[in-house]
Amino acid sequence: MKKIVLAYSGGLDTSVAIKWLTERDYEVVAYLADVGQGQDFNVVKERALKTGAVKVIIDDLKREFVSDFIFPALKANAVYEGKYFLATALSRPVIAKGLVRAAEKEKAAYIGHGCTGKGNDQVRFEVTAMILNPKLKVVAPVREWDLPTRDAEIEYAKLHDIPIDVTKKKPYSIDKNVWGISIESGKLEDPYFEPPEDIYQMSTSVDKSPKKAAYVEIYFEKGIPKKINGLTYAPLKLVEALNVLGGKHGIGRTDMIEDRLVGIKSREIYEAPAAVILSEAHKALELLTLDRETIHFKEKVTLEYSRLVYFGLWYSPLKTALDRFIDTTQKRVTGTVRVRCHKGHAVVVGRKSPHSLYRETLATYGEGDTFDQSLAKGFIQIFGLPYRK
Ligand code: ARG
Repeated sequence: MKKIVLAYSGGLDTSVAIKWLTERDYEVVAYLADVGQGQDFNVVKERALKTGAVKVIIDDLKREFVSDFIFPALKANAVYEGKYFLATALSRPVIAKGLVRAAEKEKAAYIGHGCTGKGNDQVRFEVTAMILNPKLKVVAPVREWDLPTRDAEIEYAKLHDIPIDVTKKKPYSIDKNVWGISIESGKLEDPYFEPPEDIYQMSTSVDKSPKKAAYVEIYFEKGIPKKINGLTYAPLKLVEALNVLGGKHGIGRTDMIEDRLVGIKSREIYEAPAAVILSEAHKALELLTLDRETIHFKEKVTLEYSRLVYFGLWYSPLKTALDRFIDTTQKRVTGTVRVRCHKGHAVVVGRKSPHSLYRETLATYGEGDTFDQSLAKGFIQIFGLPYRK
């Protein structure tokens, strides 16, 4: 028997994968990572065991996920193609890390996942595992088996007595964690089809959100959010609290066409209330505390960093080096940002910092101006010289 630790979600694909693997002489340990998807783990555990897993590991990765993956991405202002806060993409390296850890502990030579051959997630899982432990061999049943449709998988499941929820036909593919939800497929595959209201799980529609705005004060220390309205929060609790607040005010919905690593354009709907609030606040504090050249250079870093995260290169040398650069910039990013949450918008309305580079005496058009305007004339002559020539 070959021992395999399979990243298990409890859904149809990975349930069928357990059976498929056991039929091919694998001893399957189901590995279930908790990244905040809000599942009933007892039900899922039972399902894995009934389907043929010899053991189920439930691994709570929520804290590690927020501190070591989400917050570094926040410091980078990471966002893919201007709209996607990378919730799914960020969760893959932490799950893969846990999976590798579990495989090493179980002394398994194989790891497995239930990703299709068309997506980004297979790349993220496998490249991460490759970097962390190149000896582990990967099996991806969904890429190999001869079950071309969801209905074929359901048939297979029925034939093999695999307990699944076949009663209610799942209209969409949903991936959820503490940093947000990704919703795709089904009717959403038509990019002109408007997402129906009932697909949203984390946010209220703007029609039903409160008429009155809510103000929230977020305190950052070296780029890391630490307090909400003066109260200290642990990282996970802080993100959860802002998801609730932002969700209530309809913040964080995105509908986009994105470019996958494998060359396909796909349509995805996202909800990420906390990500939007924190990202807006963090960027505002950087604009207050960082010098112009650093801000402009960091914007380029943000683009590259986001691509690397999306492409599954979390543990790559370049991404690691960019983290060091970003950490250097964040030394000054301490202070408080006041955000107005209202009808789908998170708007920064105030910012203050002990490291503020804003000088009212330089900026003012009123009394007490210390900026010597007479110097501007010569400055412009020299600045414009290359073009005058
Ligand atoms: N498109 C997103 C990404 O590649 C999410 C993928 C998973 N989406 C889903 N609805 N299951 O990061």
